[in-house]
Amino acid sequence: MQKMMNTLLALYEQGGDQVYAGESVTQLMHAWQCGRLAEKSGASAALQLASWLHDVGHLWVNLEGTPTLRGQDDVHESIGAQVLLPVFGLAVSEPVRLHVQAKRYLVGTREIYASKLSPDSVRSLRLQGGPMGPQECAAFESEPFFADAVKLRVWDDLGKKSAWFEDTRHDALDHLMQLMHRVAQVHVTQI
Ligand SMILES: [Fe+2]
Ligand SMILES: [Fe+2]
Repeated sequence: MQKMMNTLLALYEQGGDQVYAGESVTQLMHAWQCGRLAEKSGASAALQLASWLHDVGHLWVNLEGTPTLRGQDDVHESIGAQVLLPVFGLAVSEPVRLHVQAKRYLVGTREIYASKLSPDSVRSLRLQGGPMGPQECAAFESEPFFADAVKLRVWDDLGKKSAWFEDTRHDALDHLMQLMHRVAQVHVTQI
């Protein structure tokens, strides 16, 4: 468990400065902003961590450049969820797994949401299946972690501001490690 947490931290230490594909923030800034938005909203520790790590799949596969510009879906939500599940449990892995579907859901149900998506999110939406239809929306709403996935998705879309990074890099990574420990300990006691 500690080994995996060290690996996750190292991904952000070493790959955190990569520009978030197609956006004007780095992977670390985006992760940190999403985690902070969750924290400020009073989210549980598990949902804060899911928000922090929702795009870890991008770093895990270490794809170069902007996959959506190559017409490629990197399925980062599935990869991230698989990596996170054994260490932190479903309360972290499920919102991560569902955060792309949550975008499809929000585009299918809220007109204003679609109009505010970033250019990369619009490109990836096409690759990810486009807006959900009514039947898909109903099925998605029955997912146990539906509400958390939608919240995470909203923070995901807000967490792309180029100038917003109040912590030092060291403080941000230190906070991430503490949060991982907290959530992993709760998960261990629940197994
Ligand atoms: Fe993502
Ligand atoms: Fe994201």
